[in-house]
Amino acid sequence: MELQIIKTGDGSQTLYVPAMDEQYHSTNGAVTESNYVYIEKGYLFNESKKPTVFEVGFGTGLNCLLTALLAEKQERCTTYYTIEKYPLDKEIIQQLDYGKIISAEAQTLFGKIHDCKWNEPVEISKYFTLIKLKSDLITNNLKDIRNCDVIYFDAFGPDKQPEMWCPEIFNKIFAITAINGVFVTYSAKGEVRRQLTKSGFEMERIPGPPGKFQMMRGIKKK
Ligand SMILES: C[S@@+](CC[C@H](N)C(=O)[O-])C[C@H]1O[C@@H](n2cnc3c(N)ncnc32)[C@H](O)[C@@H]1O
Repeated sequence: MELQIIKTGDGSQTLYVPAMDEQYHSTNGAVTESNYVYIEKGYLFNESKKPTVFEVGFGTGLNCLLTALLAEKQERCTTYYTIEKYPLDKEIIQQLDYGKIISAEAQTLFGKIHDCKWNEPVEISKYFTLIKLKSDLITNNLKDIRNCDVIYFDAFGPDKQPEMWCPEIFNKIFAITAINGVFVTYSAKGEVRRQLTKSGFEMERIPGPPGKFQMMRGIKKK
């Protein structure tokens, strides 16, 4: 699949997929969007002292890197599951090198996050354990995963990849979410909200990152 590296509004880069006319992050700012949608509204919103995170779509590893940095800073022991069907080539990762634009610590973590083995737990740093699943979310039943405190739902858009935004997937995600667990996504689409509500999440629309009016957050109350 052809991928193009493009610059976004905050100066950080992302990937554009011409075949889908879709990008990995917001063109208004990749790092800004990740920090706002997933870190601020998800990871920091949840109060668990030792959170388990589940991410849909590892992609460039940017959400993962930002979470690892905060886990270390806050000494908050974090277990991070992420699933990816189409891992990116090393050359693309090296060109993006999000670590480089953030800090020396980020650069080291970014390397470890990408170099570590798939499908087994790896201690990336003192407070951050990563399990990268090289797998298809549509067919994987996530049977060994439970009690996730934070869900980062970062699939390609519902108009571009509708099969990722359907009741079967949302029910599966609901089943692995802990009580009081938080679900965040950049999408604010009405149909997505209705499906997530049917799956059991109590959904709300909240202000979105720069360039986006709203995003969605859900809680598993029971
Ligand atoms: C919007 S991008 C994710 C961006 C990523 N979170 C980041 O920080 O770079 C969506 C990701 O979902 C992955 N994906 C698409 N279909 C999938 C599937 N069926 N199962 C698992 N991952 C899938 C894509 O390859 C892509 O990496």
